[in-house]
Amino acid sequence: MTLGPGDEDLVKVAALARQRAHAPYSSYKVGAAIRTGRNKVHAGANVENASYGLTVCAERTAVFAAVNAGDTKLDAIAIVIDDDRLPSPCGACRQVLAEFNPGMRVVLATTGGLRKATTLTELLPDPFLPENLS
Ligand code: THU
Repeated sequence: MTLGPGDEDLVKVAALARQRAHAPYSSYKVGAAIRTGRNKVHAGANVENASYGLTVCAERTAVFAAVNAGDTKLDAIAIVIDDDRLPSPCGACRQVLAEFNPGMRVVLATTGGLRKATTLTELLPDPFLPENLS
């Protein structure tokens, strides 16, 4: 999928967020930025902990920032790493993103200029959704 209008702006915000990552254990810094239905942007970075299992990924940090600001209509997410390959959001983050929009646009990027636009439908074809509970 080709990059659309606004994708590059979202990548820029995610790259800035990445600089705030707390990743002293893995040194793998990730930034994420989410664009909402009312065109607001919420960002996040991964936050690691000396008790390793308590680490929270960048994508979930950004989702939680959006929801805590009152935004639950999430249209797109950009994810940025500094690597020679594109990022791949973990399964837990895919599921958390699907809660708010299973068809969300996903823009994968590196600080070096690699880009790929895809969708959450592509990354997580059969998510567990709120309607599964009814
Ligand atoms: N990480 C993310 O922030 N997002 C992902 O989708 C994959 C992994 C973080 C968690 C941890 O701080 C580091 O990357 C290495 O796993």
